[in-house]
Amino acid sequence: MKIQENISLKAYNTFGISVKARYFLEINSVEELQNALKLENYPEKFILSGGSNMLITSDIAALVLHINIKGIEIIAQDEDYVELKVMAGENWHNLVLYTLEHNYGGLENMSLIPGNTGTAPIQNIGAYGVELKDTFLQCDAVDVSDSSLRTFIKQDCQFGYRDSYFKNEGKGKFVIVSVNFKLTKRNHKLRTNYGAIESELEKKGIDQPTIKDISSAVITIRQSKLPDPKVLGNSGSFFKNPILSASDFHKFSQKHSDSPFYKLSDDTYKIPAGWLIEHAGFKGKRFGDAGVHKDQALVLVNHGNATGKEIIGLAQKIMAAVNEKFGIDIEPEVNVVNASE
Ligand code: EPU
Repeated sequence: MKIQENISLKAYNTFGISVKARYFLEINSVEELQNALKLENYPEKFILSGGSNMLITSDIAALVLHINIKGIEIIAQDEDYVELKVMAGENWHNLVLYTLEHNYGGLENMSLIPGNTGTAPIQNIGAYGVELKDTFLQCDAVDVSDSSLRTFIKQDCQFGYRDSYFKNEGKGKFVIVSVNFKLTKRNHKLRTNYGAIESELEKKGIDQPTIKDISSAVITIRQSKLPDPKVLGNSGSFFKNPILSASDFHKFSQKHSDSPFYKLSDDTYKIPAGWLIEHAGFKGKRFGDAGVHKDQALVLVNHGNATGKEIIGLAQKIMAAVNEKFGIDIEPEVNVVNASE
């Protein structure tokens, strides 16, 4: 176990924010994590995984534990299904590519989402009509208070739209070390009804798509509007899409009939925050190095040397402007971390 000191975290967060960890430890196994959590000389610990859904606003005084636990294992299978156990430090998109290579269906719509497998359940990642919870079976997590290992089945996780137990009551209490998925081996349930996927497949002249075709379509769509964090620092969607009651939605849509929307139920409607932000005039805007992406207004970007505080300042400006113009509150989906306290 080798604790490093004064390590730059710029390469460890996809926003590319230049902050330092006072103490930093690479974690390669569940046992290493359990031991590290017990280190009494470092009373404060900070868990860092793929760094793809966080905005760090200050240097980190705590001991940073970088979760790099690797491995993919088949737990069970029959002719129709396979159960995979995937360790937390496996890169998400590499996992998707692995499933495609083996013709395991279920994750293809979530191609190219940045981040690692262990953090995917925290915000129940999702894209193009599919969410992590659709194939999730259970996860193992280490309890930060006593290093014991606990299994969470699906019901324990309280999954919601970009939400879970681990973002609420369980916040800061557990470190997910592995996730089990149930994937199809044949008769894949293809989800192509999300508009952009259908038109992308049509453009390619594909009417009987395979899971690989769907993945390729998703990759094309994402690359056309979402910035690659390796080129332009970002954390994907910075905000959640707001959910309105039917009566608020009807008031809104009378004035803004051109806004896209998704009906979730008879009582609830989801409005794309990207549309609201664009129509509040922020798409492509730049304030110093903090900016709003030119092709997808839901994504805030770091043009080089923005600080976490500058990005937060921009987010607050946007939230105020959207509220002022539409009377709708939007909230960040990214985890904002001020770890100096
Ligand atoms: N739109 C605009 N202007 C914009 C952005 C979007 O008018 O600047 C409109 C689009 O034209 C479209 C609608 O808003 O009619 C929805 O846009 P899009 O399909 O890009 O999806 P989204 O609702 O903006 C969500 C997820 C994305 C996910 C896509 C596709 C959230 C917070 N974001 O975005 O997830 O990739 O759907 O499923 O739910 C992420 O979480 O990091 C992420 C990228």
